[in-house]
Amino acid sequence: MSSRILWDYWAKFYNRLWVQKWSLGPTREMIINYIQTMPKTKAELNILDMGCGTGQLLQELGVIFHNQSMHLTGVDYSRGMLKIARQENPDINFIHSDVLDFSVTERYDLIIASHTLPYYEDQATALRRMVDQLKPGGTLLVANASANNLYDQLCLLMIKITTGSAHYPSIQEMRAMVDQFMPDVSISTVKTAWFVPTIFFLIATVPGSDQ
Ligand SMILES: C[S@@+](CC[C@H](N)C(=O)[O-])C[C@H]1O[C@@H](n2cnc3c(N)ncnc32)[C@H](O)[C@@H]1O
Repeated sequence: MSSRILWDYWAKFYNRLWVQKWSLGPTREMIINYIQTMPKTKAELNILDMGCGTGQLLQELGVIFHNQSMHLTGVDYSRGMLKIARQENPDINFIHSDVLDFSVTERYDLIIASHTLPYYEDQATALRRMVDQLKPGGTLLVANASANNLYDQLCLLMIKITTGSAHYPSIQEMRAMVDQFMPDVSISTVKTAWFVPTIFFLIATVPGSDQ
Protein backbone atom coordinates (compact mmCIF):
# COMPACT_ATOMS: atom_id res chain seq x y z
CA MET A 1 0.00 0.00 0.00
CA SER A 2 1.40 3.44 -0.87
CA SER A 3 2.20 5.70 2.06
CA ARG A 4 -0.19 8.32 0.73
CA ILE A 5 -3.11 5.89 0.99
CA LEU A 6 -2.05 5.04 4.54
CA TRP A 7 -2.15 8.73 5.51
CA ASP A 8 -5.58 9.05 3.89
CA TYR A 9 -6.68 6.13 6.04
CA TRP A 10 -5.23 7.55 9.26
CA ALA A 11 -6.69 11.04 8.68
CA LYS A 12 -10.01 10.42 10.43
CA PHE A 13 -8.30 9.00 13.55
CA TYR A 14 -5.25 11.23 13.49
CA ASN A 15 -6.24 13.84 16.08
CA ARG A 16 -6.99 11.04 18.58
CA LEU A 17 -3.90 8.84 18.11
CA TRP A 18 -1.85 8.02 21.25
CA VAL A 19 1.20 9.72 19.76
CA GLN A 20 -0.65 13.04 19.99
CA LYS A 21 -0.13 13.06 23.74
CA TRP A 22 3.44 11.82 23.86
CA SER A 23 5.05 13.09 20.70
CA LEU A 24 3.02 15.23 18.29
CA GLY A 25 1.42 17.53 20.89
CA PRO A 26 4.69 18.26 22.78
CA THR A 27 6.42 18.91 19.43
CA ARG A 28 3.77 21.48 18.46
CA GLU A 29 4.21 23.14 21.84
CA MET A 30 7.96 23.45 21.31
CA ILE A 31 7.51 24.83 17.80
CA ILE A 32 5.06 27.45 19.09
CA ASN A 33 7.53 28.38 21.85
CA TYR A 34 10.20 28.85 19.19
CA ILE A 35 7.92 31.07 17.07
CA GLN A 36 7.28 33.22 20.12
CA THR A 37 11.00 33.97 20.25
CA MET A 38 11.22 35.01 16.59
CA PRO A 39 12.23 38.65 16.27
CA LYS A 40 9.85 39.63 13.48
CA THR A 41 6.42 40.99 14.48
CA LYS A 42 4.10 38.01 14.51
CA ALA A 43 1.60 39.76 12.21
CA GLU A 44 4.22 39.92 9.48
CA LEU A 45 5.23 36.28 9.61
CA ASN A 46 4.49 34.20 6.56
CA ILE A 47 4.52 30.58 7.78
CA LEU A 48 4.26 27.35 5.81
CA ASP A 49 3.65 23.97 7.44
CA MET A 50 4.87 21.21 5.09
CA GLY A 51 3.19 17.84 5.66
CA CYS A 52 0.64 19.67 7.82
CA GLY A 53 -1.65 16.66 8.35
CA THR A 54 -5.00 17.77 9.77
CA GLY A 55 -3.71 21.32 10.32
CA GLN A 56 -3.42 21.14 14.12
CA LEU A 57 -0.26 23.27 14.36
CA LEU A 58 -1.67 26.03 12.16
CA GLN A 59 -4.92 25.94 14.09
CA GLU A 60 -3.06 26.34 17.39
CA LEU A 61 -0.95 29.16 15.96
CA GLY A 62 -4.12 30.92 14.79
CA VAL A 63 -5.61 30.68 18.28
CA ILE A 64 -2.45 31.69 20.18
CA PHE A 65 -1.61 34.63 17.94
CA HIS A 66 -5.23 35.68 17.65
CA ASN A 67 -5.65 39.20 16.17
CA GLN A 68 -2.16 39.20 14.77
CA SER A 69 -3.22 37.85 11.36
CA MET A 70 -0.13 35.79 10.49
CA HIS A 71 -0.13 34.36 6.99
CA LEU A 72 -0.56 30.62 7.45
CA THR A 73 -0.35 27.95 4.74
CA GLY A 74 -0.44 24.18 5.05
CA VAL A 75 0.75 21.70 2.42
CA ASP A 76 0.12 17.96 2.36
CA TYR A 77 -0.08 15.24 -0.27
CA SER A 78 -2.87 13.34 1.50
CA ARG A 79 -6.33 14.44 0.40
CA GLY A 80 -7.79 12.74 3.50
CA MET A 81 -5.64 14.86 5.82
CA LEU A 82 -6.42 18.05 3.89
CA LYS A 83 -10.16 17.37 3.93
CA ILE A 84 -10.14 17.48 7.74
CA ALA A 85 -7.69 20.39 7.84
CA ARG A 86 -9.99 22.47 5.60
CA GLN A 87 -13.16 21.49 7.48
CA GLU A 88 -11.65 22.54 10.80
CA ASN A 89 -9.81 25.63 9.56
CA PRO A 90 -11.82 27.32 6.82
CA ASP A 91 -9.75 30.53 7.12
CA ILE A 92 -6.37 28.84 6.53
CA ASN A 93 -4.93 28.26 3.07
CA PHE A 94 -4.21 24.56 2.36
CA ILE A 95 -2.45 23.31 -0.76
CA HIS A 96 -2.47 19.76 -2.05
CA SER A 97 1.07 18.85 -3.13
CA ASP A 98 3.92 16.43 -2.68
CA VAL A 99 6.88 18.20 -1.08
CA LEU A 100 9.00 17.26 -4.09
CA ASP A 101 6.61 19.03 -6.50
CA PHE A 102 6.00 22.06 -4.31
CA SER A 103 6.94 25.29 -5.98
CA VAL A 104 5.11 28.60 -5.63
CA THR A 105 6.09 32.23 -6.21
CA GLU A 106 5.42 33.05 -2.55
CA ARG A 107 8.41 33.07 -0.18
CA TYR A 108 8.16 32.26 3.54
CA ASP A 109 9.74 33.52 6.77
CA LEU A 110 9.40 30.11 8.35
CA ILE A 111 8.86 26.66 6.88
CA ILE A 112 8.06 23.91 9.37
CA ALA A 113 8.30 20.19 8.64
CA SER A 114 7.06 18.43 11.75
CA HIS A 115 7.06 14.62 11.87
CA THR A 116 6.87 14.41 8.09
CA LEU A 117 10.44 14.23 6.70
CA PRO A 118 10.87 10.47 7.48
CA TYR A 119 8.15 9.70 4.91
CA TYR A 120 9.64 11.65 2.01
CA GLU A 121 11.02 9.63 -0.89
CA ASP A 122 14.07 11.87 -1.28
CA GLN A 123 14.78 13.74 1.95
CA ALA A 124 17.81 15.71 0.77
CA THR A 125 15.97 17.06 -2.29
CA ALA A 126 12.89 17.84 -0.20
CA LEU A 127 15.03 19.87 2.24
CA ARG A 128 16.49 21.83 -0.66
CA ARG A 129 13.03 22.46 -2.09
CA MET A 130 11.87 23.89 1.21
CA VAL A 131 14.94 26.09 1.58
CA ASP A 132 14.35 27.45 -1.95
CA GLN A 133 10.92 28.67 -0.80
CA LEU A 134 12.35 30.75 2.07
CA LYS A 135 12.81 34.52 2.06
CA PRO A 136 16.35 35.84 2.61
CA GLY A 137 16.94 35.37 6.34
CA GLY A 138 14.10 32.83 6.49
CA THR A 139 14.15 29.78 8.75
CA LEU A 140 13.60 26.07 8.21
CA LEU A 141 12.45 24.12 11.26
CA VAL A 142 12.45 20.33 10.98
CA ALA A 143 11.31 18.22 13.92
CA ASN A 144 10.91 14.48 13.97
CA ALA A 145 11.73 11.19 15.59
CA SER A 146 15.28 10.14 14.97
CA ALA A 147 17.14 6.83 15.07
CA ASN A 148 20.38 7.49 16.96
CA ASN A 149 20.83 4.25 18.85
CA LEU A 150 19.40 0.78 19.25
CA TYR A 151 16.81 1.99 21.74
CA ASP A 152 15.47 4.61 19.30
CA GLN A 153 15.36 1.96 16.60
CA LEU A 154 13.29 -0.36 18.80
CA CYS A 155 10.80 2.41 19.64
CA LEU A 156 10.55 3.27 15.95
CA LEU A 157 9.73 -0.31 14.98
CA MET A 158 6.34 0.14 16.64
CA ILE A 159 5.69 3.44 14.90
CA LYS A 160 6.77 2.07 11.51
CA ILE A 161 4.02 -0.56 11.66
CA THR A 162 1.45 2.20 11.24
CA THR A 163 3.28 4.51 8.84
CA GLY A 164 4.64 2.12 6.22
CA SER A 165 7.84 3.04 4.43
CA ALA A 166 9.92 5.47 6.49
CA HIS A 167 13.48 6.47 7.16
CA TYR A 168 14.17 8.27 10.45
CA PRO A 169 17.52 10.02 9.94
CA SER A 170 19.98 10.18 12.79
CA ILE A 171 21.21 13.60 13.88
CA GLN A 172 24.49 12.93 12.10
CA GLU A 173 22.68 12.13 8.84
CA MET A 174 20.53 15.25 9.19
CA ARG A 175 23.57 17.42 9.67
CA ALA A 176 25.24 15.92 6.63
CA MET A 177 22.16 16.53 4.47
CA VAL A 178 21.68 20.14 5.52
CA ASP A 179 25.30 21.26 5.96
CA GLN A 180 25.80 21.15 2.20
CA PHE A 181 23.55 24.14 1.59
CA MET A 182 22.72 25.74 4.98
CA PRO A 183 25.59 27.50 6.74
CA ASP A 184 23.75 28.27 9.98
CA VAL A 185 22.26 25.11 11.53
CA SER A 186 21.43 24.21 15.10
CA ILE A 187 20.09 20.85 16.27
CA SER A 188 18.69 20.09 19.69
CA THR A 189 17.03 16.93 20.97
CA VAL A 190 14.27 16.11 23.37
CA LYS A 191 12.88 12.97 24.94
CA THR A 192 9.17 13.37 25.76
CA ALA A 193 8.72 9.94 27.39
CA TRP A 194 10.88 6.85 27.92
CA PHE A 195 9.02 4.88 25.24
CA VAL A 196 9.23 7.64 22.65
CA PRO A 197 12.31 7.87 20.39
CA THR A 198 14.53 10.93 20.52
CA ILE A 199 12.97 13.88 18.72
CA PHE A 200 15.29 16.41 17.13
CA PHE A 201 14.68 20.04 16.30
CA LEU A 202 16.73 21.35 13.46
CA ILE A 203 16.68 25.10 12.98
CA ALA A 204 18.50 26.49 9.96
CA THR A 205 18.46 30.05 8.73
CA VAL A 206 19.36 31.13 5.22
CA PRO A 207 21.64 34.14 4.82
CA GLY A 208 19.93 37.49 4.34
CA SER A 209 18.46 40.34 6.27
CA ASP A 210 14.72 40.23 5.71
CA GLN A 211 13.94 39.19 9.33
C1 LIG B 1 2.88 11.98 10.96
S1 LIG B 1 1.99 13.06 9.92
C2 LIG B 1 2.50 14.65 10.57
C3 LIG B 1 1.42 15.68 10.46
C4 LIG B 1 1.73 16.98 11.21
N1 LIG B 1 2.86 17.67 10.63
C5 LIG B 1 1.99 16.72 12.66
O1 LIG B 1 3.07 17.10 13.17
O2 LIG B 1 1.10 16.16 13.33
C6 LIG B 1 2.90 13.03 8.40
C7 LIG B 1 2.22 13.87 7.33
O3 LIG B 1 3.16 14.07 6.26
C8 LIG B 1 2.44 13.98 5.05
N2 LIG B 1 3.38 13.61 3.99
C9 LIG B 1 4.14 12.48 3.92
N3 LIG B 1 4.89 12.48 2.80
C10 LIG B 1 4.61 13.65 2.16
C11 LIG B 1 5.07 14.23 0.95
N4 LIG B 1 5.95 13.58 0.18
N5 LIG B 1 4.62 15.45 0.59
C12 LIG B 1 3.69 16.09 1.38
N6 LIG B 1 3.19 15.58 2.53
C13 LIG B 1 3.65 14.38 2.92
C14 LIG B 1 1.40 12.89 5.32
O4 LIG B 1 0.34 12.92 4.41
C15 LIG B 1 0.98 13.22 6.74
O5 LIG B 1 -0.10 14.12 6.77
